[in-house]
Amino acid sequence: MSSSDTEARPVMGEQALYDSFMAVARNRITTRQFEPNYDVPKEHYAMILEAARHAPSGANAQPWHYIVVREPTVKQKIADYFVAEQRIRAKLKMKFPTPNYAGLADAPGFIVVVADFRYVKAFPVLKDDDSDLNKMYIENAERILLQSVAASTMSAHLAAAALGYNVWWVTAIGQQEAQDAMRPLLNVPDELSILDIMCFGPPLKEPYKRWKKTPQEITHWDVFDRSNFMTDEELDTWIKKKRHKVMYKDAAKID
Ligand SMILES: Cc1cc2nc3c(=O)[nH]c(=O)nc-3n(C[C@H](O)[C@H](O)[C@H](O)COP(=O)(O)O)c2cc1C
Repeated sequence: MSSSDTEARPVMGEQALYDSFMAVARNRITTRQFEPNYDVPKEHYAMILEAARHAPSGANAQPWHYIVVREPTVKQKIADYFVAEQRIRAKLKMKFPTPNYAGLADAPGFIVVVADFRYVKAFPVLKDDDSDLNKMYIENAERILLQSVAASTMSAHLAAAALGYNVWWVTAIGQQEAQDAMRPLLNVPDELSILDIMCFGPPLKEPYKRWKKTPQEITHWDVFDRSNFMTDEELDTWIKKKRHKVMYKDAAKID
């Protein structure tokens, strides 16, 4: 255990600490284009990954690894892969408003998030059993694992935001092809999966705050409040009419 693992506990209900935390949480804002010539100090990577390290995880498995990529040619190769994928998605008529992934190459901070799915075995599953019952447990175990890695990644994003950076959470496409293309670039063992890319740095343009649901829309007291429930049709309409706006527009400019 390092000395930084034990810390004085915050005073319960302390407003000042909460306010500082919220200043970070509210200002964790995605940007997809960064100032290309900025050099991230090495200690910032350490500070960001220190936050990742303290995250909770199912069975305390900590099924994550973080690869700090500093080599511009490697960043470029990964960016090229995503730009190509963007074209494939367009051809497939997925109608997903895909961003321009060229910005990945210029991200000053570039961390590849690697998950070790073998830890699924550390969660409640039946041993050597391919029954339907075990499929259900395995599915649940995979969710536990994904949530664990997301919890750690989120801590890293918040730490980057606390250092004043903008961030970009990019999902590494899960297909085998993508994994095969990226693994050798980073020497990632076949047993592991590249899950996300975390980019950060000073933004190239003024960042904007995206739409967030109101507290009332997401908070349910004691039981689920149906007034906050969307029917399938309402959800389809939201995807058609709103999704592209909430992804790429300033919340203040959405009608
Ligand atoms: C799990 C997860 C996956 C994401 N994947 C992508 C992605 O592949 N590409 C991308 O441009 N943004 C991605 N994002 C960023 C979201 O688009 C962004 O967080 C959202 O639009 C809200 O904006 P904000 O981060 O500024 O609050 C992802 C975010 C999360 C949490």
